Amino acid sequence: AAGDPAAGEKVFKKCAGCHGVGEGATNKVGPVLNGIFGEKAGAVEGYNFSQAMVDAGNGGLVWNPETLSEFLKKPRDFVKGTKMSFPGLPKEDDIANVVAYLQTFSPD
Ligand code: HEM
Repeated sequence: AAGDPAAGEKVFKKCAGCHGVGEGATNKVGPVLNGIFGEKAGAVEGYNFSQAMVDAGNGGLVWNPETLSEFLKKPRDFVKGTKMSFPGLPKEDDIANVVAYLQTFSPD
């Protein structure tokens, strides 16, 4: 089911300690999440990704609603060796909603 961006904004509070998104956002502990849809993993400018995330991107991982949902379920299972130390979102609805929220910051 399609997510609800407004509900996703609340879910994003779990991410916001490490990630910025929106106008004026910058890299923090994690990369800024503007415009990631359609981009290869591990490619945000000026951010020092783990080798695991760089390798995943070079291996063909591109962020879209499906891949991002898989990642957010269990980040460290989906990208082994990632330095994103977040256990994941257990609720499918939370995942769909935060994905919908992040899509509002990716043009097209
Ligand atoms: C990487 C999303 C929570 C730290 C990423 C990436 C995404 C993402 C999409 C990959 C970006 C790219 O390849 O361009 C999210 C979302 C979160 C969340 C939606 C909440 C549901 C967190 C939290 C932390 C964190 C809480 C810190 C404790 C990181 C770090 C990376 C990363 C360090 C870089 C991973 C690497 O280089 O291996 N995150 N994140 N994230 N995130 Fe998160």
